[in-house]
Amino acid sequence: MRHKAFSTNMNTTKTLALTDLKRSDFAPDFRWGCSTSSYQIEGGIDQDGRGESIWDRFCQAPGKIRDGSSGAVACDHYHRWPQDLDLARSMGINAYRFSVAWPRIFPNGRGATANQKGLDFYSRLVDGMLERGIEPWVTLYHWDLPQALQDQGGWAERATVDAFVAYSDTVSRHLGDRVKHWITHNEPWCTAFHGYCEGVHAPGLKNFRTALQVCHNVLLSHGLAVPVIKANVSDARVGIALSLHPLKSASDSAQDIAATTRHDGLRNRWFLDPLHGRGYPADIWQLLGADAPQVQAGDLAAMATPTDFLGINYYFPETVAHAPGQGLLSTRVIESENVERTAFGWEVSPDGMVSLLGRVAHDYRPAEIYLTENGSTYDDVVTPDGDINDVARRRYLVRHLDAMREIVAKGIPVKGYFAWSLLDNFEWAEGYVRRFGLTHVDFKTQQRRLKASGKWYRAFLKGELEPAVLVAASIATYDEEV
Ligand code: FCB
Repeated sequence: MRHKAFSTNMNTTKTLALTDLKRSDFAPDFRWGCSTSSYQIEGGIDQDGRGESIWDRFCQAPGKIRDGSSGAVACDHYHRWPQDLDLARSMGINAYRFSVAWPRIFPNGRGATANQKGLDFYSRLVDGMLERGIEPWVTLYHWDLPQALQDQGGWAERATVDAFVAYSDTVSRHLGDRVKHWITHNEPWCTAFHGYCEGVHAPGLKNFRTALQVCHNVLLSHGLAVPVIKANVSDARVGIALSLHPLKSASDSAQDIAATTRHDGLRNRWFLDPLHGRGYPADIWQLLGADAPQVQAGDLAAMATPTDFLGINYYFPETVAHAPGQGLLSTRVIESENVERTAFGWEVSPDGMVSLLGRVAHDYRPAEIYLTENGSTYDDVVTPDGDINDVARRRYLVRHLDAMREIVAKGIPVKGYFAWSLLDNFEWAEGYVRRFGLTHVDFKTQQRRLKASGKWYRAFLKGELEPAVLVAASIATYDEEV
């Protein structure tokens, strides 16, 4: 694996390569998009019969959200979506990944009849995309579970699997004549571990064993939903979006290397293996003992139902050390030194993305891969003229697209890139403190302004990049921190 911190020399080399990056380096049908999710942008939480979600409830608990905020208004996308789709079109993206809020469709999580007004909202949204020449990519679950289901145990309960399949059935029946790209779940690792083990995301529980059952139920619900979506939409392309991380061992010691393998076992292989028909990784299963999830006959086969693509959300690599007694796996993620980081502290490593996709393609051979999320947060400053000169985010984007080109050149079947995110939005436990948008949102006025990064993406997508723009986006900004 190539995981080295960038040296000055590497930066210089990369800079030269960047100056000729262009859209035509990629296939004409390459998907260039942005991603968002329902709870992070929509607001309108009491509109048109929407039920309560676990995030509505979680945000009310004191101390859970850094700035005490919630997604109650967020980007008010529920009302401003035509303007947001105009913005998306003006950027030149050809695909847009958004999620459906389950509580808008089934306010109580399940039921004989769906909430028509909720379905109508997404129907209008999808029509709005198609009118603008943007391909809709739906994510069915991006973390906003109906609270009513959580009251019955949420993802720890198998009944939620059936509810998810029924919900997927309803949404795909309703939108399937126009939506051909379906993502069942966003980042099952986060659903399970942030939500049910670390307690930092809704529903805020802290139980390792429960989190493992949640992983199982989420992957099972994915596998059972795939054929249902395909039955409703004959030409559907269905996949799942995993958060995956390239890993580095803290040292060459056998102990650190073994720890890295264990960490990989729960972070990456715990999801990749069962999805690809290999069952759960035996090395980790053995360590779990009584914490291992309940698996029923047929579950593993269902989880391995073939899909059309694998979605990968890539943000950062991790460095792992042996840490006796630390958790069941005796591992610890350490902060590597001398690496570039975003304002979140996440290591910036386009090379990590290259090695990650290479590894996944080599080990699992997915037919197609889409980078379903990639992006960065920095502390943006709005100038008196209303400009947001986010050179660091722009450089992050340029370098990751440069890495995408390298990935394509290696023959890895990556077919699209979705930037996180179209808009600044509600960043979960971080509230509005962390901005990931290519577009700045003033949350007081709801004004949208394209940042320098968004303008660069637009110029790149429209083939309007003057060499000088590229140089500005790469050399000048590289030099700042070299
Ligand atoms: C991902 C989530 C997305 C957003 C980005 C920054 O893990 O899928 O909703 O929070 O991180």
